[in-house]
Amino acid sequence: MTVLPRVAPQNVVYYVIFAFLSLIIIATVIGIVQNVISDRKLEQKKRDIAQKKPVLNPAPQVPGVPILGNVIGLARYGVSFLGACRETWGDVFTLNLGNQKMTFLCEPKMIEHFFKAPDSEITFRPAVEQFTQRVFGLPSQTFFPVHSAVLSALRNLLVPGKLADISEKVASLAFAFLRNDSPSSSSHVASPAPQNLFHFIRHWVFCVGVEVLFGSEFLHKGPHGSVAALAAEFWIFEEGFELAASPLPHLLQPRWIRARARLLTWLSHAYKDGQFDGTPVGDLVKDTEGLADEIAPNMILALLWASQANTAGATFWLAARLALPQEAARRRQILDELAARKALIEREDKENSSSSSPSPTKDASTIAAMISLANDQKSLISRCVSETVRLAVQSIDVRIAARELVLSADDPNLSHGTYGVRPDTARIGRPHYYVIPAGRMLAVCPYDAHRDERMYGTDAAQFNPDRADLKVGNGSAVMHSVAGLAYGGGPYRCPGRFFAEREVAILVLTLMLERDVSLTPFSTPSAIPYRRRRLTPQESSSLLRSIKSLGKEFFFDLGKGLWGISGIRWGLGATLHFPLGAWPAAGHAFAGHYPPEVAAREELEVAEVAGVENGAKEREKIEKIEEEEEEEERKKRQGQEQATRKIYRLPRPELRKLVGVKVPGEACMATLAPRTKKDK
Ligand code: HEM
Repeated sequence: MTVLPRVAPQNVVYYVIFAFLSLIIIATVIGIVQNVISDRKLEQKKRDIAQKKPVLNPAPQVPGVPILGNVIGLARYGVSFLGACRETWGDVFTLNLGNQKMTFLCEPKMIEHFFKAPDSEITFRPAVEQFTQRVFGLPSQTFFPVHSAVLSALRNLLVPGKLADISEKVASLAFAFLRNDSPSSSSHVASPAPQNLFHFIRHWVFCVGVEVLFGSEFLHKGPHGSVAALAAEFWIFEEGFELAASPLPHLLQPRWIRARARLLTWLSHAYKDGQFDGTPVGDLVKDTEGLADEIAPNMILALLWASQANTAGATFWLAARLALPQEAARRRQILDELAARKALIEREDKENSSSSSPSPTKDASTIAAMISLANDQKSLISRCVSETVRLAVQSIDVRIAARELVLSADDPNLSHGTYGVRPDTARIGRPHYYVIPAGRMLAVCPYDAHRDERMYGTDAAQFNPDRADLKVGNGSAVMHSVAGLAYGGGPYRCPGRFFAEREVAILVLTLMLERDVSLTPFSTPSAIPYRRRRLTPQESSSLLRSIKSLGKEFFFDLGKGLWGISGIRWGLGATLHFPLGAWPAAGHAFAGHYPPEVAAREELEVAEVAGVENGAKEREKIEKIEEEEEEEERKKRQGQEQATRKIYRLPRPELRKLVGVKVPGEACMATLAPRTKKDK
């Protein structure tokens, strides 16, 4: 047994005082040291600011849920989700997409760098490799050795100088279809009833585009049996395309798998039977050295998709816009421009023709005028096409960081071009750099960038075909054009862009000449504007409340407990409040065409039946009141219908989609009556 030494009570008091004083001394020393350190840090910060020493940060990671990261949020809200991320997390942010991290660059100078950097820094091939393998079944080991050859053969085939014949074919086929002179014309063309304008245009663009590039033999006598069957399988393939490109297993998309298998079988038979011989696609396959026969059908499928995916959407959005009553003046201007060009061509032909020249065909001078305007970047129709593509294009451009990247909006090497400097980085006074690891997938979203005021000025979201071309840097990254980033940039920019611009212009002109497109008005006013913004605390709390009120408290609280509020917000998009499927109000709503406020139906006081016993006079009085009420009601209804009829606007786009045709998010109905000679 140990005996503890006894401590006298007065000693205890001394020990306590000693310990207390020691603590005070230690705290004072720590305080002094901390002060010295923070003073030094402050001095260092001041020196860094004076020397403009850069701040290095990783690209902020948007919070998400385990495993799926931000997949659900992105799938639910598409480009709106990206806009909200950019507003909240800044110009550079990283999404976790299941097995892959993707860093989005939204700063104009970084976008320029994205397209301009050499392959040793930012590379294209590995980024699209996995994607083309997944959706088109093009195995990288056999396709990628010939990728550059395909690209240069296609570029060579579709250079502006070689597009005259193809453009003429587009115009003749477009006319034939609309006049019911083509085997592809379907019965609904002549239908006087309103029809879905997007479906009509999509089918028309498909028939014309496929016949021009893949040949009439394939379209009409191919192994698919009918044009309708081919188109139907293609649109199933296109609609499932985005999901198929994602990491989700294809087994979840049985219809898409079936459509792809059918398309590949048909293309393979047609290829073996020589149905593409002598067509632009046939020439491309022939001109591509080293292309193995077994992957030719897959490559043809990739071309089929690329040639349709954006063209159908662009044609629809421009045709729908020009059909709006509020666009009557522009429509007139376009037709006047066409008439003037046609008159000029006819005059020149007359001067140059001799008696032995063959007489021109019926539409010859009209087609020549359309092609001439489509070739002329300054013509109104060409500017309208570029502006439509700028506002409507939805694709996401992807690349991979070939080595560690250090990117900054403040880097003087990146700072040229027509856009301004982001104000907050200028205010901080020190350049901010983002460090992006090698192997990271990089992405640019043109839909969002094209609404960035730093790139296109304060009217970025509005339709303005008279705007100046976007000049990105010294012009080596992206073509100077109103269409901006729509066709991608750098060495991998779209090889079909010259053809696409001409095709859309010619198709829209043909439609304007042949059909009177009358849009069916919408019964609701224009969409809520597309915005990129942070939620205010009140909004988020009211949204949280509304989600709870839907009886999801349990799962909501569980998710909140597991992943935090940020996790469920950015992982599942649970409390994000974006107006989905909306165009910017400024650009797409037309003042004066909203219905007047519909007043609530007034409750009229009517005499009680009991009061009627006061005699015929009283009854008469009541009947008169009822008649007046009825008349009032009728007028009111008529007024409302009249007002409703005035809501002519573009349909809301489906913003959930990230690639491919940007489809309308609601049906856009129209009648397509043939135009009479007098109208023309
Ligand atoms: C409005 C219409 C069109 C738009 C907006 C568009 C847009 C694009 C974009 C953004 C890219 C990716 C470029 C990059 O990552 O830098 C691309 C690639 C491509 N486009 Fe287009 N395109 C259109 C029409 C066409 C047409 C009509 C064709 C064919 C005739 C075509 C063929 C291709 C091909 C083959 C590629 C892949 C190039 C490669 O593998 O490197 N496109 N397009």
